[in-house]
Amino acid sequence: MNRNPQYSVIAGSGSYLPPRVVSNDDLAAELATRDIQTSDAWIVERTGIRQRHIADRGVTTSDLAVEAARRALDDAGLQPQDIDLVIVATSTPDFVFPSTACLVQARLGIKGGAAFDVQAVCSGFVYALTTADSFMRAGRSRHALVIGAEVFSRILDWNDRGTCVLFGDGAGAVVLSAAEQPGILAAQLHADGSQTKILCAAGNVAYGEVVGDPFLRMDGQAVFKQAVTVLERSARAVCEEAGVTLDAVDLLIPHQANVRILNFLARKLDLPADKLVVTVDRHANTSAASVPLALDAVRREGRAKAGQLVLMQGVGGGFTWGSVLARLTA
Ligand code: ACO
Repeated sequence: MNRNPQYSVIAGSGSYLPPRVVSNDDLAAELATRDIQTSDAWIVERTGIRQRHIADRGVTTSDLAVEAARRALDDAGLQPQDIDLVIVATSTPDFVFPSTACLVQARLGIKGGAAFDVQAVCSGFVYALTTADSFMRAGRSRHALVIGAEVFSRILDWNDRGTCVLFGDGAGAVVLSAAEQPGILAAQLHADGSQTKILCAAGNVAYGEVVGDPFLRMDGQAVFKQAVTVLERSARAVCEEAGVTLDAVDLLIPHQANVRILNFLARKLDLPADKLVVTVDRHANTSAASVPLALDAVRREGRAKAGQLVLMQGVGGGFTWGSVLARLTA
């Protein structure tokens, strides 16, 4: 038996999208009933988004997370009782507390170990994956469920056409297992808390009511500039830390915010289009769920294979960003 694993590997992945698909035309028609004008052409040209999945009223982040987690466990060939760590990255938890991770742990019948949420908005999955990898390197976990799950549709101002067309709901999960060989080669996390205002949902629950603004607000152009700058810098830094050149990367999976950000980034990194993973067209921006949803999509399509080098990147509110470079083993 492997008694002293020092690294972690992605042993399986899974994802879940709520069944209701809302196309740009559907959304434009719905907004038009409230005299808000948008169009498929505007949304596709500015963002690359063609549709999003929206959870029905009453469906929660933990509902989506549990489905994605079950599929990841199945893919890894593990049982709930094998899991000793559950981390859920989300900005749309079911409750103020307990954490969504505790709800997921209970619903999957996982006993013991740690369960907690990570809040780093659209960087959440990369933060959670790095945290789980650190647990493995410290010998504190053998099999972890790392989940990104969101119902962002709940925190959108559906009267603000500048933001409501951008997001969708969904969940993605990986099983991370301790191993003697990496797996995860390098990871870097960053934050700049002085930039909170360019992307925030600045409300909370206090005194029995919502205090502040419960909706997502964004300075789109400031976010765009920040995103392309930090993602490029972070991609170069994480490759340098791992001692690999950028052209050794087989697949780049950046946070799926906007196809223009993705294409701009790939160009700056000199990566050919076939190495760039794009799912924002069909999923829209699912915040913390976007990277694991995209990873699971390319694994299931057979585009991502064992042996390949995958660079996953998050960027979002906080301002937060980070990168994880992983050699796929499954
Ligand atoms: N349909 C039609 N017109 C619209 C819409 C819409 N849905 N939204 C805004 N407009 C209008 C604006 O009102 C404005 O009209 P005006 O010139 O008459 O005032 C015009 O389009 C241009 O608005 P801008 O906000 O300047 O549009 P921009 O070209 O910057 O595109 C966008 C907006 C797509 C948000 C862009 O700023 C962007 O890509 N930002 C990156 C941020 C991003 O993707 N965020 C996602 C979440 S953050 C994250 O995940 C990291």
